[in-house]
Amino acid sequence: MHDEQVQFVTRVAARNFRSLKQVDVPLGRFSVLAGPNGSGKSNVLNVLRFLATTARLDLSAALDQWSGFDHIQRQDGSDGEVKIQVHGQITRYSSPNALDEYELSIRQGKRGILRTEEFEFKRRSGPGRRYRAVGETVSITENERSVQDVRVASAQTTGLATLPKLADDQGGLGIRDLADFLAEIRVLEPDVEAARQPSRRGNGRLFGDASNLADALVTLRQKSPDAFGQLLSDLRLCLPGLADIGFRSVGGATGAQAVELHERGVRRPIDLADASFGTVRMLALLTALHEPDPPAFTAIEEVDHGLHPYALDVLVDRMRAASSRTQLLVATHSPTFLNRLAPQEIIVCDRDPRTGDSLIPALRALFTWLGGRTRG
Ligand SMILES: Nc1ncnc2c1ncn2[C@@H]1O[C@H](COP(=O)(O)OP(=O)(O)O)[C@@H](O)[C@H]1O
Ligand SMILES: [Mg+2]
Repeated sequence: MHDEQVQFVTRVAARNFRSLKQVDVPLGRFSVLAGPNGSGKSNVLNVLRFLATTARLDLSAALDQWSGFDHIQRQDGSDGEVKIQVHGQITRYSSPNALDEYELSIRQGKRGILRTEEFEFKRRSGPGRRYRAVGETVSITENERSVQDVRVASAQTTGLATLPKLADDQGGLGIRDLADFLAEIRVLEPDVEAARQPSRRGNGRLFGDASNLADALVTLRQKSPDAFGQLLSDLRLCLPGLADIGFRSVGGATGAQAVELHERGVRRPIDLADASFGTVRMLALLTALHEPDPPAFTAIEEVDHGLHPYALDVLVDRMRAASSRTQLLVATHSPTFLNRLAPQEIIVCDRDPRTGDSLIPALRALFTWLGGRTRG
């Protein structure tokens, strides 16, 4: 990452993406998607997951991850172009008054998938730059003046995956900032069974599925003892019997570590493999929230799943604190969780019962409608 600038997404918009016929979602540093089952909360997270895979591996890999374009495109018979937009303060050229804009459109052509992309870096000083990828050509313009054209391998290859290789003076830096930001988006959806298992040593950053929880915890204790101490006291708040978290080497030469919980009144430590579902899940979420150097953006699926209301209270406080290090977008249907939030942290999600289109944010749609009526 560059300088000390805080990177963040100010809005995500999507069209014809699964249940999202047309949504435009403004985001803060800590935003919570709340609404009934099937209202489209996960699909908002999926938009970001899709972009992350595209930035990491390219469009074909992202489409494969969802079993093909049919599963991404809204199946309402209109065969509409899928369009995703991200605005934010992401590249080194951006400022609150000069937000970066990225747009990816995908449609089914006669001979395969076709994408169109647009990058716009307005820049806080100097001329703004725009990159427009259509077919195999990327046209680069500065203040509407053509600077040069660049060829990419095919109409399926995204600029997001390939343009970061451009030289710095061709604007590679800005695209690299954006691609790196998107590529490291983490969608936390702990796989509790995997998280219970010992894990090998790695770089210590918790994976989205938390399958390296043991490594992430060992690393946190070694490199950030203060953060580990805070995590332990958070966990003690939620698990009254907990005394300490320990580790045990397993697997000999591979150096794999297993997590053990030391509980009061129990003579031998409890393997994480034997700990309760909620305990493992809470431990995974707290680990991500206490990481000193998290990815710039963290999404959390169904945060309340398996957790006691008191644990949710603790999580809200930790999320607010963590949101200065990682932008947070969280999905929930728990009223207890919502009760702890400020109105501006909540994004209400609903679904039009007639058309099946997601309404996100549902309340703003209502306000706009009422506003339109009273003004008109
Ligand atoms: N390709 C598609 N076209 C239309 N609707 C879709 C498509 N894929 C999924 N959906 C709809 O999206 C809804 C799921 O939304 P989701 O974001 O998972 O809801 P939740 O708010 O519970 O997280 C499902 O009810 C499903 O009907
Ligand atoms: Mg969901």
